[in-house]
Amino acid sequence: MRIPAPAKINLHLRVGPLGNDGFHPLLSWMVAVGLFDTLTLVRRPAARVQSVHNATGPAGSATPAPVATTIVAAGAAPIFALSSDHPTLETDHRNLVVRAATALADQASRVGEGSTGGGLTSVSALLHKRIPAGAGLGGGSSDAAATLIGLNRLWKLDWPAARLAGLAAQLGSDVPFFLGGSSSICTGRGEIVRPTPPPIPMGGPEPWAVLVLPKIEVSTPAVYRRFDEMKLGSEQVLRDEPDWLAWSKLSAAELMSRLVNDLEPPAFSLRPELGELRQALERQLGRVVRMSGSGSSLFTLCDSMDEARTLAGEAMGKLNVGTMAVPLAPKMGFETMTKLD
Ligand code: C5P
Repeated sequence: MRIPAPAKINLHLRVGPLGNDGFHPLLSWMVAVGLFDTLTLVRRPAARVQSVHNATGPAGSATPAPVATTIVAAGAAPIFALSSDHPTLETDHRNLVVRAATALADQASRVGEGSTGGGLTSVSALLHKRIPAGAGLGGGSSDAAATLIGLNRLWKLDWPAARLAGLAAQLGSDVPFFLGGSSSICTGRGEIVRPTPPPIPMGGPEPWAVLVLPKIEVSTPAVYRRFDEMKLGSEQVLRDEPDWLAWSKLSAAELMSRLVNDLEPPAFSLRPELGELRQALERQLGRVVRMSGSGSSLFTLCDSMDEARTLAGEAMGKLNVGTMAVPLAPKMGFETMTKLD
């Protein structure tokens, strides 16, 4: 089974003051974008999970060999093993894919559900990474959601998305978003997800965005800590909910001028070069540029693919920074899973 795991951007992100639970209440419009990791899940006899993942790729082979593997076991039987083609990505219990598989296996075993009656089928997973880490694009969260979606099917649990959402929220505030549609208003810690129409394009069949991907990793907890140190955050911004439907009908430029990200001041305070890059992009492109999530990626919206490609080329050429033109709100989750024969 192959499951594309899309990145997201926070078009709009309002943040309230730190709560007693150690999290900040949010009001965010999150939209998936056409930049994908891919999770491939293959059923294996239990014994083969170990041996397949101990194998290394042939010397000089075009596809890089998976570099590291972690095996999750239920009792003595290995049931899930993760490998990745990414050279430095951890594939142990720090990886949300492994945490998602472990949590789902635990819960399914506890309630005696699963494919074989006698236990869960063993699965080998290969994660092909393209979404950069520490970029505010939700790559790890999307991988975790793809794991829940895929294993729910492979293990024949057939839990509805609402049941998976409880597990997803324990894995991370952004994970439930990736179980739903491609455009949602997220509140609570981010885990309360309400679908909303994505921006409606004026110049083409799909809305597009330019993503700017500086080679800077930003730690989400560090940005929230700086947010607290700067004494930012008001309850009022969470109560003033915009008319999302009206916003979705605005042109890209009109919508950009209304969008806010309350995590920009603390992120730019931690990494001044990021704030400087945003200003340089706005001057160069003549448009509003915002940060996604806790950074470091930046974006602007476009009314057509042609416009997005032109601006992405201009930003890369003039400011020597990685950019991508991506469609907004591609199909995702349950809609995009494909069965491999
Ligand atoms: O939920 P997630 O694991 O993505 O959160 C990472 C960290 O970001 C949390 O430990 C917390 O410090 C911070 N955070 C927060 N408020 C949120 C979401 C995350 O303070 N709504």
